[in-house]
Amino acid sequence: MLRKVVFWTIGIIAVLFVAIQFVPYGRDHTNPPVLGEPTWSDAETKATFDRACADCHSNETKWPWYSNVAPVSWLVWRDVDEGRAKLNVSEWGHRRNEADEAGEQVQKGEMPMPIYLVLHPEARLSADEKTTLINGLNATFGGEGLRSSPMAYGPPAD
Ligand code: HEC
Repeated sequence: MLRKVVFWTIGIIAVLFVAIQFVPYGRDHTNPPVLGEPTWSDAETKATFDRACADCHSNETKWPWYSNVAPVSWLVWRDVDEGRAKLNVSEWGHRRNEADEAGEQVQKGEMPMPIYLVLHPEARLSADEKTTLINGLNATFGGEGLRSSPMAYGPPAD
């Protein structure tokens, strides 16, 4: 009896897994063209952004193999789609964005998205790299709170 249940459970999961691979959502990984780029304050800021942010905030996404395997592909697609909608450095000057919040997002630890860091260790930033990136993002995108050290920020004033 139990063996039958196990057999059928595994069988159904396997069939479902194969079936969901045919769902079209998030399968097209053709990157849209680069239409325009911001004037980066310095090369290091651009390099760090490319390393830690560009997969979700540009049209130069590097799609890992698991981004082709549902259901992970759906999650990856949603992050890239939503990330590009908020800030896309490849469509600079072509539509609205929230770039001025970039420094703040890094400072608060919200970006890069923590789940991204699990499989992208190269995007992990040391405290020094964070400080440099925050300053560079603020200088590039006109964000507020340009400081020499993250410690100088203190708690949010709201
Ligand atoms: C794994 C994909 C991913 C990575 C990597 C990533 N972001 Fe995001 N980002 C998102 C998504 C999704 C949103 C929209 C949802 C949200 O705000 O959480 C977003 C929102 C933002 C916003 C808009 C703020 C808001 O919430 O309205 C800014 C600014 C931003 N990201 C900056 C960055 C910067 C700077 C980096 C690199 C240090 C980065 N992101 C890395 C996915 C990503």
